[in-house]
Amino acid sequence: MALEAWMVGEKGEDLDGPKELLPLSKLEEIGVLYWHLDPKKSESKEELTKIRKDRGYSYMDVIEICPDKLENYEEKVKNFFREHIHTDEEIRYCLEGSGYFDVRDKDDKWIRIWIKEGDMIILPAGIYHRFTVDSANYAKLMRLFIGEPVWTALNRPQDDNPVRQEYVKNVMGNTGFALAAH
Ligand code: LAC
Ligand code: NI
Repeated sequence: MALEAWMVGEKGEDLDGPKELLPLSKLEEIGVLYWHLDPKKSESKEELTKIRKDRGYSYMDVIEICPDKLENYEEKVKNFFREHIHTDEEIRYCLEGSGYFDVRDKDDKWIRIWIKEGDMIILPAGIYHRFTVDSANYAKLMRLFIGEPVWTALNRPQDDNPVRQEYVKNVMGNTGFALAAH
């Protein structure tokens, strides 16, 4: 079961024509990393431990995104869907439910990534993105972080932000993330 990603419009609406799924390389080239770790399989636990160790993700918590589990649901969901960056990676591992992470591609268009149970994604620091629930209206996500978490969302525009500038350099430069990641 591969990760599904496709282009959407500014408001998250479907584009005209048939929905075309994008290859993972489209995500790799903008620095998005992806794993599938089935939460029901015991190997996944070991794999998660390894990823956490390799990448230094000392912090972990679990957030449930639905009206009765999340405090200030309306406000939070509104903020999740506002285009923003962070000064650190955004690491999310979907334990149950599903949702959409939208990320800007190289042409500044929205790629919608449909996260489902077992999908783990890492959005690099400085990438413009947003999140929204899908029609299931429920996502249980593990959040990982290096050290003390900083959840601050810096809304677009962030062109003068050094973290944004570094990201743009990595993506647009000759080497790019795709090569750097391997
Ligand atoms: C966020 C939620 C989805 O930080 O975890 O955008
Ligand atoms: Ni974010």
